Amino acid sequence: MGTARPEAGEGVLIIDFGGQYSHLILRRLRELGARPAIMHYSEVMRSGISGFAAVVLSGSHMSVSELSDRELEALRSMIESYRGAVLGICFGHQLLARLFGGTVERGCQEYGRASVRIAEGDWLFRGWAAEEQVWMSHGDCVKRPPAGAQVLATSGNGIVAAMKLKAGGRPVYGVQFHPEVRHTEKGTELLRNFLEMAGAGEGAGEAASVDEIVRSLRMEAMDGAVLAAVSGGVDSTVAALLAKMAFGKRLRPVFVDHGLLREGEAEEVVRLLGEAGLEPIVVDAGDRFISRLEGLSGCEERRRVIGEEFARVLYEVAKREGARALVQGTTYPDVVESGGSRGSSLIKSHHNVGGMPGWFRESVRVLEPLRGLYKDEVRGLAVELGVPGEIINRHPFPGPGLAVRVIGRFTREKLEAVRKASRAVEDVLREKGLYGSAWQAFAAVGDDAWVGVKGDSREQGHIVIVRVVESADGMTAGYARLPYDILDEITRRITGEVGGVSMVAYAVTTKPPSTIEPC
Ligand code: XMP
Repeated sequence: MGTARPEAGEGVLIIDFGGQYSHLILRRLRELGARPAIMHYSEVMRSGISGFAAVVLSGSHMSVSELSDRELEALRSMIESYRGAVLGICFGHQLLARLFGGTVERGCQEYGRASVRIAEGDWLFRGWAAEEQVWMSHGDCVKRPPAGAQVLATSGNGIVAAMKLKAGGRPVYGVQFHPEVRHTEKGTELLRNFLEMAGAGEGAGEAASVDEIVRSLRMEAMDGAVLAAVSGGVDSTVAALLAKMAFGKRLRPVFVDHGLLREGEAEEVVRLLGEAGLEPIVVDAGDRFISRLEGLSGCEERRRVIGEEFARVLYEVAKREGARALVQGTTYPDVVESGGSRGSSLIKSHHNVGGMPGWFRESVRVLEPLRGLYKDEVRGLAVELGVPGEIINRHPFPGPGLAVRVIGRFTREKLEAVRKASRAVEDVLREKGLYGSAWQAFAAVGDDAWVGVKGDSREQGHIVIVRVVESADGMTAGYARLPYDILDEITRRITGEVGGVSMVAYAVTTKPPSTIEPC
């Protein structure tokens, strides 16, 4: 084991090919004390990569065959002449294989947890056992590694899970799995080993600081009132508290009740925000939202309608209050999953990202102080700011609310079924002390019906899907292994308390390939 260290340079460059996880890689490297930066590959081809101690080639929604010959040639000669350490992850791994004479095959997908066997000891896998759990999320794979490459690990399906290319004394690695994702149990060790080899492990790991955020908020809204859209969730509460520090009495928190909240949530939110030191203007807009949603089936259409209505309501409040800026608690996963990170593909339009229309932004400036952060980083800030534990520990709740948990045609009746069933799920988890260990727990209802038997008669009823997931940041997730007696209790409560239900199902698919919310 052991490899020559390259000269220490100026941090780590993550070349972004539009994958979902580039920013997560950045974050992990930052946590390990490196100084990472992300750049889109089209820019990298113009500016080059010299000057960085290491380069990480990230994942992508593309296949390597979608890159043009010109692009492939430019990338190949750039990496060939580069003297630092290189790590290709997922798409990056396949790209390295393709660039140096190997072949990549389509249709050999692996999603979710997988185990890999280490075939050959290498510094990269220092601290790994012979077999470890990793997280896979790929459709293509390396069929034949380049001549001379060492296969360092293989997956249970015999796929090349890690390889090392012959490139003089410097390390050039590819890994098919995602070391940046928490489900890869020794992922952090692998990244640390890589940084150590690159001589890039000790730098200025920058954590988000309250003072810096407050300072830059002040610079962005020099005068006038400032609105802060609050929902009672940790993101918007933290964003609003930072804004209060920046703007004092100029800040007007606004809570829009869109009628898509959980049971009893509006009152609860106002109480909790009060404890946090925020007294929001409450806008009761339930009828406006729900009448526009009724009968709509498409998820993206509904998200668009909610985003638009949200913008209208906030615009009216801004006019009334004389505000020219709006603070929102948008976090990084909202941005990347809405296709807002350059080149990434649209998974869902999170309303607070995709939905603030041009006409709104023309007269109200949108400020997003948490845009570069993940949920657990925001929770860290929340603790620092003294946000009540009840807000910090509440499950994340999507901006479009229960509307994303009604599958198919939107009706008031299905909305009520979702509301009541979700309440039952949350109640049981709270009673059994399991609420805190879940990332989210809820119910969803679609259009399919199941024939039930009540008393002596046949009755068609809803199918309620219960989803309880565990996650660190919402980007990937696994389902909670709930004991059968808890599933029994949840089912009893739903069939007893929600009218018109004849089947309860439990969702066991991980993210990926599913998303957490059904819509
Ligand atoms: P998905 O369903 O995309 O969800 O796997 C990932 C996380 O994001 C939340 N989510 C949203 N949050 N606005 C939000 O503020 C939205 O439009 C939205 N859609 C999904 C979801 O609840 C999960 O925690």
